Amino acid sequence: MTQDDAAPYLEANRAWWDHVVPIHEASRGYDREGFLRGEKPLCPVELEELGPHVEGRSLLHLQCHFGMDTLNWARLGARVTGLDFAPQAIEAARRLSEDSGVPGRFVEANVYDAPTALEGERFDLVYTGIGALNWLPDIRAWAQVVTACLRDGGRLYLYEAHPALYTLDEEQPETRLVVRYPYFPQPEPLTTVSTATYVDGPALPPMPTHDWIRGLGEIVTALIEAGLVIEFLHEHREMPWQALPWMEFVGDGPRGADGRYQSGRMWRLPAAQRELVPLMYSLMARRPASD
Ligand SMILES: C[S@@+](CC[C@H](N)C(=O)[O-])C[C@H]1O[C@@H](n2cnc3c(N)ncnc32)[C@H](O)[C@@H]1O
Repeated sequence: MTQDDAAPYLEANRAWWDHVVPIHEASRGYDREGFLRGEKPLCPVELEELGPHVEGRSLLHLQCHFGMDTLNWARLGARVTGLDFAPQAIEAARRLSEDSGVPGRFVEANVYDAPTALEGERFDLVYTGIGALNWLPDIRAWAQVVTACLRDGGRLYLYEAHPALYTLDEEQPETRLVVRYPYFPQPEPLTTVSTATYVDGPALPPMPTHDWIRGLGEIVTALIEAGLVIEFLHEHREMPWQALPWMEFVGDGPRGADGRYQSGRMWRLPAAQRELVPLMYSLMARRPASD
């Protein structure tokens, strides 16, 4: 889908994200207070795979939301810039930086305008976290943006929900993994009117969001076409939220009245299903040095 065609969808999405930022700031799920106390680290996979590369490096976080993950990278020694198109998210990120004393720069812009908004600045690292790529109508244009924002030799790191997970029917009884939704990218977005966000909080007014299925093949191909060299693509059996009601918490954690875990780090499928489907993927790609 061209960006002109997508403009009304992105406008609706931006309004929704602006609406949910204060809800997320106040949520137990994001646990802002915990972050201020120095808790709420990044996911174990991210820490293991990108952690060793960040100290002293410049890092651009695309679609940074209200900056918690961005500032977590700063706590590990990166010089961070977060970019998001929702004004409320950027304001909240600046507040989080100020309240926590963790330095970070936050820029309000559409991902597709990042090279212009950042005046051509190039970074050692570009990072994109969970729940980002599905909001983008044009994945090839996104890959071009990533390349434009990396210095020669710089790296993209991506940690995302696996598209295979999104094909599964969450309303089945727990013994059945059933494919219900398409895996392959569709030209038209999926329009949803949710009564809640993905964390705890008050009911939402009926505001539509529009997102796109992003297959692994098109993401990897777009990055290669944009000139990046893929260093690894890992698929994972654990994930940082309970995407299906019967997933097991890895470790222990507090449960709510409904029996579901309220917080904690990672979930996985029960042993009998664990080898059947990947839940997350992570990818590292490098912009080669120019000749
Ligand atoms: C689920 S959040 C991802 C953030 C992070 N992983 C987290 O959990 O805090 C998705 C973010 O993408 C942003 N976003 C969506 N479409 C965008 C676009 N075209 N340009 C810039 N930001 C965008 C939204 O405003 C939102 O803050």
